[in-house]
Amino acid sequence: MSVRIVLLGAPGSGKGTQAALLKEMYGIAHISTGDILRQEVAEGTELGKKAETYMSVGTLVPDDLILEMMRLRLLQPDTRRGWLLDGFPRTVAQAERLASLTNGIGQRADAGVILNVIPEVVVRRLSGRRVCEACQTITNVVEMKAGACPVCGGKLVLRPDDEPSVVRKRIAVFDAQTRPVFEFFRRNYDVIEIDASRSIDEVTEALRLALDRYDHS
Ligand code: AP5
Repeated sequence: MSVRIVLLGAPGSGKGTQAALLKEMYGIAHISTGDILRQEVAEGTELGKKAETYMSVGTLVPDDLILEMMRLRLLQPDTRRGWLLDGFPRTVAQAERLASLTNGIGQRADAGVILNVIPEVVVRRLSGRRVCEACQTITNVVEMKAGACPVCGGKLVLRPDDEPSVVRKRIAVFDAQTRPVFEFFRRNYDVIEIDASRSIDEVTEALRLALDRYDHS
């Protein structure tokens, strides 16, 4: 199946978890701005050095850097089969540029998917999140007794921006700068609202049912 979807939601709403599952299910590109930036930081690139100063304190990387990064990423050949954006757009200015970026590859987003969660769920999930150092699989030590990565056996580590003080800042930044993007989408795109406080499997099933009608294949 081929779809072009923008996943929107608070930190910890499950965007990365669901995107990884939908990527497997549909064989489409999963474009996570957070993952791309973390890779740039790990490689010590110019972009990575600039981005780290914002990410480490829970604020947003400037729009001009993100927009250029997304323009280049969307030009990669794997986007032809469909895509799922995770973590972009995150400001109204980014949302306003989305259409021109996707027009640049002759496409348009089918819909925005809003993953709705209450703040208590966000805090619980992020405090228990661990990421595999080797294969980047996301897991949770609250939901399961995770000692090692369930996929490759690698070491599980805390994401630096999941420290409680940084999480509080990320949630405040989300409320101030990203929540208005939901309204932008409601005015300009089809929007699917999902109760993402349910189990991972229930959320995936709700997404699958909602996305079937956008199939381009
Ligand atoms: P980014 O990596 O995008 O972080 P985020 O949006 O804060 O989202 P998270 O990755 O924290 O949460 P998620 O919704 O993916 O949840 P997950 O699936 O992991 O961005 C990081 C930083 O990069 C930003 O702060 C900013 O500085 C910068 N940045 C990125 N994009 C940018 C942009 N466009 N503009 C400017 N700056 C940008 O799930 C969380 C946990 O919950 C996991 O442990 C998971 O196992 C568990 N879980 C998930 N779903 C469920 C469920 N249904 N039930 C139980 N547990 C669940």
